[in-house]
Amino acid sequence: MNKIKGLFLALTSALFISGILVTNTLAAGPHEGVACLGCHSVHFAVDDKAFAVKNTTMINPINGESLDGLVAAKCLGCHETQELGGAGIRPIHLHTTHPIGIIPNPRVADVPDNLLKEGKLDCISCHEPHPSNPNFMYLRVDTGSYGENLQKFCVTCHSAKADMKLIGVESVDSLELFSAMDQQAGAKNFRRDEVVTNNPSVEYIKPLGVIPANDILPNYLKKPAWVNEPEFNPLVQ
Ligand code: HEC
Ligand code: HEC
Ligand code: HEC
Ligand code: HEC
Repeated sequence: MNKIKGLFLALTSALFISGILVTNTLAAGPHEGVACLGCHSVHFAVDDKAFAVKNTTMINPINGESLDGLVAAKCLGCHETQELGGAGIRPIHLHTTHPIGIIPNPRVADVPDNLLKEGKLDCISCHEPHPSNPNFMYLRVDTGSYGENLQKFCVTCHSAKADMKLIGVESVDSLELFSAMDQQAGAKNFRRDEVVTNNPSVEYIKPLGVIPANDILPNYLKKPAWVNEPEFNPLVQ
C-alpha cells in the first residue's frame, strides 16, 4: 500500500471509529480527526511514545543534523511532502521555517529549559498538538480565535521585541502556556517556567522493516475532505 493512501485510509477510519463528523472535526481542531491512532499506534509503532509515523529522511537544513531525538521527526512524518519523507498533509518546510533543532543563542531568544527538548528548540516548544488544546493552531499561548494576538505568543521567548503594554502582558512570568503532558495536573495552562512539555520515555520500539514508516494501521475507506493535499512541492520540482 502506498504511504499516502495508507495514511488517508487510517485518518478516515479514525473518524469513523470516533463517530465524529468531518464538519465538527474542523470546527474543533483538525487533530481531533486524527483521533489518537493517527499519531499513536498501540501495536504497530515506529518511534518512541508509541508513535505511528516518523520522517526518517529529512535532514535539518540549519545544521545538517538528523531529526532523531526531536519531536519534529514525528510531526514531519505527516507535515512534510512525500518526497521529503512525510505524508503530504499540510506540509511545512524546514528550509523556510523558524529555526528548530538548535541550542538557543540567549541574545536572540530567552527560552526556559522546560520548553526545550534535550536542550533544543522543537515543534513542541511552540505547539501542544493534543486535541485537548483549544488554542489557535495548537499554539501553547491563547492568541485569540484567529491568532489576532500573535504577539502574545512570540513574547514567550522574544519579549524585548514586543510592545508589552499594548498586548497587556506585564512580564513573561504572567504568561499562560497550555500543556497536556502532566496527567496529574490535567490539561490546563501553566506558568512559563513550570510548564511540562515532554517526559522521558524508555526507547524500545523496533519498527518492522517490512512496514513502510508512514503506513498507519488499521485501514480505511476514503480520504477525508479536510485533508489538504498539495499539488506540488516547490523544493522538489
Ligand atoms: C497530532 C498528533 C497527536 C495526536 C492526535 C495525539 N497525540 Fe499524544 N502525543 C503526541 C506527541 C507529539 C507526544 C509527545 C512526544 C514526545 O515527547 O516525544 C505525545 C505524547 C503522548 C503521551 C505520552 C505523554 C508523556 O507524558 O510522555 C500520551 C499518553 C499520549 N500522547 C496520549 C494521546 C491520546 C490518548 C491521544 C488521543 C486523545 C493522543 N495522544 C493524540 C502527538 C499526538
Ligand atoms: C498523523 C498525522 C499527523 C501528525 C503526526 C501531526 N499532525 Fe498536525 N495535522 C494533521 C492533520 C490531518 C491536520 C489537518 C490538515 C488540514 O487542515 O488539511 C493537521 C493540522 C495541524 C495544524 C493546523 C491546525 C489548524 O487549526 O489549522 C498544526 C498547527 C499542526 N497540525 C501541528 C502539528 C504538530 C506540531 C505536530 C507534531 C507534534 C503534528 N501536527 C503532528 C495530522 C498530523
Ligand atoms: C517558534 C514557534 C514555532 C515552532 C518552533 C514551530 N511552529 Fe508551527 N506554527 C507556529 C505559528 C505561530 C503558526 C501559525 C502561523 C502560521 O500558520 O504560519 C504555526 C503553524 C503551523 C502549522 C499550520 C501551517 C498552515 O498551513 O497554516 C503547522 C502544520 C505547523 N505549524 C507545524 C509545525 C511543525 C511540524 C513544527 C516543527 C517542525 C513547528 N510547527 C514548529 C509556530 C511555531
Ligand atoms: C519557544 C520559544 C520561541 C518562540 C515562542 C518564538 N521563538 Fe523565535 N526564536 C527562538 C529561538 C530559540 C531562536 C533561535 C535563536 C538562535 O539563533 O540561537 C529564534 C529565532 C527567531 C528569529 C531569527 C531567525 C534567524 O534565522 O536568525 C526570528 C525572526 C524569530 N525567532 C521570530 C519569532 C516570531 C515572529 C515568533 C512568534 C510568531 C517567535 N519567533 C516565537 C525561540 C522562539
